[in-house]
Amino acid sequence: MSALLEVAGLHVRFGEVAAVRGASLVVARGETHCLVGESGCGKSVTALAVMGLLARGARRAAERLAFAGQDLRDLSDRAMSRLRGDRMAMIFQEPMTSLNPSYTIGSQMTEVLRRHRPGATRAQAVDRAVELLGRVGITAPGMRLGQYPHQLSGGLRQRVMIAMALMCEPELLIADEPTTALDVTVQAQILRLLAGLQRDLGLAILLITHDLGIVARVAHRVSVMYAGEVVESAPTAALFAAPRHPYTRGLLSCVPVPGKVRRDQPLGSIPGVVPRIPPGFAGCAFRDRCAHARAECSGDVPRRAAGPEHEFLCTLAPDWARAEPVAA
Ligand SMILES: Nc1ncnc2c1ncn2[C@@H]1O[C@H](COP(=O)(O)OP(=O)(O)O)[C@@H](O)[C@H]1O
Ligand SMILES: [Mg+2]
Repeated sequence: MSALLEVAGLHVRFGEVAAVRGASLVVARGETHCLVGESGCGKSVTALAVMGLLARGARRAAERLAFAGQDLRDLSDRAMSRLRGDRMAMIFQEPMTSLNPSYTIGSQMTEVLRRHRPGATRAQAVDRAVELLGRVGITAPGMRLGQYPHQLSGGLRQRVMIAMALMCEPELLIADEPTTALDVTVQAQILRLLAGLQRDLGLAILLITHDLGIVARVAHRVSVMYAGEVVESAPTAALFAAPRHPYTRGLLSCVPVPGKVRRDQPLGSIPGVVPRIPPGFAGCAFRDRCAHARAECSGDVPRRAAGPEHEFLCTLAPDWARAEPVAA
């Protein structure tokens, strides 16, 4: 496995709010990596931290934050914006976050290419835009170039946003709940589209989603996030067959048979809510909601290995976990 995006020990704070607390994950070249977890766990903030798009006032620190071997931690804003939209691109739940209502689809798409490839002619940029609109399943792409975002349906806008993200052939596409705002049939089309693009173009996708059905169908690897930490990460089959962290087990609890997930299956519901983590908090953040919690869960939490490329963070190694701490 060749690592494209490496995140280790990532912390993001907004004043006293610790939104991400030591999160680690690796996205390999050409894989679809799903990041799951309840709302407020820090998934979007992790993605924005990678892209260098955090709100002003956010403080970011990481032990490692690298893209294609290049350290992103001390890249200038200019260098970061050269990477964004070029070798790494991001799409959002609400396409209007990325689309400007006052410019045509065509001018926005061609602008992306011309910003990153100053040598490209206007005709080349238009050709590329037409090709990609076709690629994402938009009919009469030439005509669409002259339209404004508000003239398109939500599903079409999402396709345009994907096409725009692909203008410079990124190696990594981060998609933050890209289908949540769409109806179920359109969701399925967009996911098939992403899976096809991933295969055909060999790009890596970090897909943030709530939907376990999506995860089961498209992910090669899954990372589970809880209260700012990645608490479990495993190849998809291993995660569904033998989830180890009590939180992961809670999320999967509505799935009756591994691999037999309904299309529209939501994450399982676990009593309680994601806690706000105060500064100086120690121990396992899930302990207040965990049926297995004991006194020692307030101490340091070891990282354990459960199989090839399968790791989780848990103080207890209950019988079902049968796992050894990973030697540091
Ligand atoms: N700009 C911000 N200012 C302050 N707090 C924020 C900001 N963005 C996110 N947060 C907080 O960070 C935490 C993680 O948020 P987020 O990454 O959006 O969660 P998720 O995407 O997993 O639903 C939440 O507690 C949220 O309130
Ligand atoms: Mg989010």
